[in-house]
Amino acid sequence: MRPVRLILMEFIEGVTMFELDPDKLSEQQSTNIMVKAIDGYAALQHHGVNHGDFSPRNVLCSGNDLGSVTLRVVLFDFNNSIVLRLANLRRTPPKLPVSPIVGYWRGGPPEFSPGWIPYPPGEWLWKQWGDSPS
Ligand SMILES: Nc1ncnc2c1ncn2[C@@H]1O[C@H](COP(=O)(O)OP(=O)(O)O)[C@@H](O)[C@H]1O
Ligand SMILES: [Mg+2]
Repeated sequence: MRPVRLILMEFIEGVTMFELDPDKLSEQQSTNIMVKAIDGYAALQHHGVNHGDFSPRNVLCSGNDLGSVTLRVVLFDFNNSIVLRLANLRRTPPKLPVSPIVGYWRGGPPEFSPGWIPYPPGEWLWKQWGDSPS
């Protein structure tokens, strides 16, 4: 016998970002999805989880309207994730999540094409998170 660790999560009806072509979406739709994905990733990070495989293959979009505020954008595939606290890597987390403006100033998350986040991303980042408190 050997222990097998697993993460059980709900089945999410939807399409992955990998199945979508950002160049065929409206800017409003692609931005809606990408902002939600980045916010989700940042929230995980803020709670001490390093996802480890943030890429379009591992983000599901669930809902009828890709441009809607109600669209659910969910990260999954925690195969490579690390809970920093359990890995004894815990550092004192900042009170507020690190702003994506800082995190992605030199370029968006590497796995995402410029269709999802323009390069250079500065202007786009300010437009999305310029009013955020962090
Ligand atoms: N919670 C979920 N809800 C719906 N589909 C899922 C879910 N988790 C995984 N899948 C489907 O299974 C596929 C593979 O899952 P994933 O966890 O990314 O494994 P892998 O390590 O092979 O990349 C995904 O591309 C997705 O289509
Ligand atoms: Mg995967």
